[in-house]
Amino acid sequence: MSKVVVTGRVPEPAVESLRAEHEVWMHEDITPISREALLEAVAGADAILSLLTEKIDAEVLDAAGSQLQILANVAVGYNNVDVPACAERGVVVTNTPGVLTEATADIAFGLILMTTRRLGEGERVIRSQTPWAWGMFYLLGSGLQGKTLGVIGLGGIGVATARRARAFGMRIAYASRSECPAELAEELQATRMDTDELLAHADVVSLHCPYSEATHHLIGAEQLARMKDTAYLVNTARGPIVDEAALVKALRDGQIAGAGLDVFEKEPAVHEGLLELDNVALVPHLGSATVETRTAMAQLAADNALAVLGGRDPLTQVQP
Ligand code: GLV
Repeated sequence: MSKVVVTGRVPEPAVESLRAEHEVWMHEDITPISREALLEAVAGADAILSLLTEKIDAEVLDAAGSQLQILANVAVGYNNVDVPACAERGVVVTNTPGVLTEATADIAFGLILMTTRRLGEGERVIRSQTPWAWGMFYLLGSGLQGKTLGVIGLGGIGVATARRARAFGMRIAYASRSECPAELAEELQATRMDTDELLAHADVVSLHCPYSEATHHLIGAEQLARMKDTAYLVNTARGPIVDEAALVKALRDGQIAGAGLDVFEKEPAVHEGLLELDNVALVPHLGSATVETRTAMAQLAADNALAVLGGRDPLTQVQP
């Protein structure tokens, strides 16, 4: 029997499958575990299931001890994990790709609709009991049909968002490290562009690249200045991909038309400037937040832990 530490509460079926074979300790509270409690809890763990709110670095790995075999992050993004530090200690790292693709694309498209059709603004009118009447020119948004969605990072979530956009009659442009397979390009009628070209061309820019040093502030003042003043920016990837201060300035100056954000640079803090702007839709990191998806994410992380502890290959390993 090995010791499995789960750093935050996850859906029960995953915990049960771990308990069937191992001793499990889980941080039961719904609020993130403190750093101090984390360092204490991981001691002696053979496997750790971590949430994206926990920074897993050398200090945590050393606090766990040399018996640690696997760090299963319950998220597709793993920028909270020091992967080289895990590799140095022979700890396998896994993430949860695939199972949250559709849910996250739904939120990306939800934000596209919220911003282009001014749904948040409209809701605030009603909730604040501001007098209103149907009017030919009242709260007019921007239609999507015939417009171009620019996808930055055409991985699974980028593709799923592009498919939704096609159903809304949009054209697809993408910027990605590699050319997408011909069959997919044909299905999406997707045109590959470099990032600068895409920014200048797209009516909606949606970010779907992983966060790393290379994508830190990928969208800053210079990139926002390239966008059309009628265009929208949507981020469901990771907050620090966007320079939030530059975004606030671009929105204030009317350099772009609006933004929809599910993730924030200093999450859970949100730049005050964003809160004052009406042309921004803000939601609290809900990309994968459905019962079905969270259940599947936790189960995939548990299955990865069970595989490695059982001497089998992990299902979804992050390559060091
Ligand atoms: C959520 O943001 C994830 O990376 O899974």
